[in-house]
Amino acid sequence: DWTPAAFVQETIEKIKAQVGDKRVVMALSGGVDSTVAAELIHKAIGKNLFCIFVDNGLLRKNEYETVLESYKHMGLNVKGVNARDLFYGQLDGVSDPEKKRKIIGRLFIEVFQHESAQLTDISFLGQGTIYPDVIESVSVNGPSVTIKSHHNVGGLPEKMNMQLVEPLRFLFKDEVRRVGREIGISDVFLGRHPFPGPGLAIRILGAITPDKVAMLQEADAIYIEGLREAGLYDKVWQAGTILLPVQSVGVMGDERTYEFTVALRAVTSTDGMTADWAHLPYEFLAKMSNDIINRVKGINRVVYDISSKPPATIEWE
Ligand code: XMP
Repeated sequence: DWTPAAFVQETIEKIKAQVGDKRVVMALSGGVDSTVAAELIHKAIGKNLFCIFVDNGLLRKNEYETVLESYKHMGLNVKGVNARDLFYGQLDGVSDPEKKRKIIGRLFIEVFQHESAQLTDISFLGQGTIYPDVIESVSVNGPSVTIKSHHNVGGLPEKMNMQLVEPLRFLFKDEVRRVGREIGISDVFLGRHPFPGPGLAIRILGAITPDKVAMLQEADAIYIEGLREAGLYDKVWQAGTILLPVQSVGVMGDERTYEFTVALRAVTSTDGMTADWAHLPYEFLAKMSNDIINRVKGINRVVYDISSKPPATIEWE
C-alpha cells in the first residue's frame, strides 16, 4: 500500500544513493510541485541543493518576496533573482500570446543558465516533474502538450546536459500534496491555486507595460484576498483577474472617466482540462466590483466571466 510516510523515507534514500556528495541545482516556481520536490531533495542532501527563484515581474502582488521568504524559512539554500526589467524589456510591444510565452520561456532558461553557471561543480538538475507531466509530454496532441512546452522548466535538461533528479515523477497531484503535508510543507503552498508559468503576461491582453502589471496585481490581490475572506478560495479550482485592452466611460463625482476593465475569472475543475465557471454569490461579486473600482486607479468597470471550458479556456490567452 502506498503511504506518504513510506514514500518519503524511500525517496530520500534513493536521492542519497543517486546524488551522493554531488551538487544539485533546481529552479523553484512557488508552486506545489517544485516546492515539494525541493524539500525532498533538501532532506536528502541538505546544502548541496542550490535553488534559484526568478522574479520575472509577472507574479502576483508581493508573491516574489513572500515566497522567497518562505523558502528561506524552510531552510532551503535559495537565490532570488530579480529579472523584472529584462522580461519587461523583451516583452515591450509584444501582444501575440504565443510570442509572449516563447519570450518568457526563453528568458527564463537564459536567466537560470546564467545563474547556474555561477555555481561550481553542479552535476544534477532537480525538477518537480509529476506523472501527468510525463504522460502529457509523450502524448501527441491536446492542449496540455502546448501548455507544458511553454514553460514549467521543461526545456532545461537537453540544453544543460545534466542528469535529472525527479522525486515526484510517478506521483499524481493529490499524492504530491499528501507527501508535502507529510514533510511539513505549509498549507499556503499546498492549497495554492494553479498559476501559469507566463504569469500575468497572459492575463494582460495585448502589450504588457509595468503600469498595467501593477494595476492588475492590485485588482488580483483584492480578488484573491476577498475569496479567502469569504471562505471561497478553497471551493474554486483556480481564480484570477484579466486586464482587458478596452477602455470605457464611467463617472466619478462630477468627472467623466475613461478607464480600463478587469474581468474576474473563477472556475471549478478537477484537472484543468475541462472547467465550469464558478457560481460565486452575487453579493460577493458586488463587493469585489466595488472594492476594485474604488481602490485601483485606472479601472472603472468589472465584469465576471461566465464561460466554461470547452469551448472557452481558463486563461484568456
Ligand atoms: P487553459 O487556459 O488552457 O489553461 O484552459 C489550463 C490550465 O493551464 C494553465 N496554463 C498554463 N500553465 N504555462 C503554464 O505553466 C502556460 O503557458 C499556460 N497556459 C495555461 C492555466 O492557468 C490553467 O491552470
